[in-house]
Amino acid sequence: MSRHIAVLNGPNLNLLGEREPDIYGRTSLAEIERATKERARTLGVECTWIQTNHEGELVEAIQNLKGRADGALINAAAFTHTSLAVRDALLAVRVPFVEVHLSNIFAREPERRRSMLADLAVGVVTGFGADSYRLGFEALARYLESR
Ligand code: DQA
Repeated sequence: MSRHIAVLNGPNLNLLGEREPDIYGRTSLAEIERATKERARTLGVECTWIQTNHEGELVEAIQNLKGRADGALINAAAFTHTSLAVRDALLAVRVPFVEVHLSNIFAREPERRRSMLADLAVGVVTGFGADSYRLGFEALARYLESR
């Protein structure tokens, strides 16, 4: 059965490739989007993609998942560590999601080691650079397939 996975990206991820490349690598978000959509095609999964720098827009994007997406791949970036509003939106829609991060948030500053979202996720992929998206997407597609 064809599935729809929505990929949601939070603040500053539009700067990937130029932003702190030692931490986040040199791959741009557009390149990650291209690779993820290509993988989606081979898996027969529909993939939609958004990036926003605004917390409210991320909340609305999550609210809009209801009835539209079977699952979501979410890199909430800094909102991961701070946003009760993003957490509440995920609790409200109850769409299965995988949390992804390019860097290993557990190996970074103490304030990044806490995720407001992780306990609600099907799983978390963190620390594999751009590959975190591929791994998370494949794992989520397989999870949705098995349900
Ligand atoms: C990030 C990790 C966050 O701590 C940070 O605020 C980001 C990116 C990552 O993908 O490694 O913007 O989510």
